[in-house]
Amino acid sequence: MKKVLRIFLIIVGFVVVAILGFVSFAAVRGVPDYDPPVVQDLKIEATPARLARGAKIAQMHCIACHADENKQLTGRHLSDLPSLFGTLYSMNITQDKTVGIGSWTDGELYYFLRTGLRKNGTFAPIMPKFATMADEDVQSVIVWLKSNEAPVQPVAKEAPKSEFSLFAKLLANTVIKPLPFPEKAILIPDSTDELAFGRYVADGLGTCYACHSADFTKQDPLHPELSEGYYGGGNEMKTADGKPIFTANLTFDEETGIAKKYTKPQFIQAVKACVRPDGGLIRGPMFPHQLTDYEAGAIFEYLKTVPKIKNDIANKEKEALASK
Ligand code: HEC
Ligand code: HEC
Repeated sequence: MKKVLRIFLIIVGFVVVAILGFVSFAAVRGVPDYDPPVVQDLKIEATPARLARGAKIAQMHCIACHADENKQLTGRHLSDLPSLFGTLYSMNITQDKTVGIGSWTDGELYYFLRTGLRKNGTFAPIMPKFATMADEDVQSVIVWLKSNEAPVQPVAKEAPKSEFSLFAKLLANTVIKPLPFPEKAILIPDSTDELAFGRYVADGLGTCYACHSADFTKQDPLHPELSEGYYGGGNEMKTADGKPIFTANLTFDEETGIAKKYTKPQFIQAVKACVRPDGGLIRGPMFPHQLTDYEAGAIFEYLKTVPKIKNDIANKEKEALASK
């Protein structure tokens, strides 16, 4: 018996040493580098339609995270993200050639927005990867980044470097990795197929699921519907004044979701203007999305088909505030 116990303790000892070893390895290694990718040569034609579409997509994504107080995309402190990941800053993505992305080619930007990998093999762990956005939409964003629009004109100002927490480093050494470059063309579904179109606007274009699911660390950008708590909300974020806030449950659960809370026109108003049915404001980090009525309405129709999740967000927030 004693011998069995001793062997058991030795094994436990080895496991503990191995775990501690891995934790300190990750702490020292930080976010790992990868082999520099082979980036395709791409020349995207700058049409007025692409520029307009790119501006709209930038409003929903890039500007929200990269704009400074002057509305230039020089990067900012991402104070609304959970501090669990560290002290995070976005970067300068103006056309400045030294501190911005003025010298990136179309192909390098395209590869980065899909996978998170830069041409030198360094990886962006926090920046979202637009894995299911249509080719045409990603290309439109790049046209906008290279345009004469005010937010992307060169400014030689650099945001501080992010300090990743040990938790973020562990994630970057295990589950958060570059995404594969798409093998097939990704097309925008025909808008007459309202459900397929609504699903695309929600998951591929708006990436609403990324905030409106259960856990930032348990998402599947290649198959958004497999993310934990898909549209059930509950992801903890921070309001402008640093208080905990949880993303809303957008499933059609009768008690805790939006089934009884919103009609379709009210939902469209909420998404586009952040106004609730009672006239109150929906708080940040939610922000007004530049979508058409048809696009926002198609999201509503798609959400009706998503499995319902019982998740009482208002109560969650009450409890979190009471415990602080
Ligand atoms: C949730 C916040 C967030 C959003 C939304 C976002 N970014 Fe970023 N971005 C970051 C962070 C943070 C970094 C720094 C790398 C990291 O830590 O992941 C970054 C880095 C980058 C870089 C690399 C810059 C460099 O010099 O290495 C580019 C290019 C970029 N973002 C472009 C975009 C574009 C284009 C969009 C819109 C389609 C966008 N980002 C949307 C947070 C964001
Ligand atoms: C950056 C994270 C983020 C993104 C992206 C986001 N939301 Fe939100 N959303 C929130 C948060 C946080 C709340 C809760 C606000 C509050 O409680 O006042 C919210 C609230 C809402 C509400 C109000 C729900 C209610 O119960 O009253 C609706 C509707 C909504 N979001 C729809 C969307 C749609 C559709 C998209 C994509 C086009 C989207 N959101 C993208 C964070 C986000």
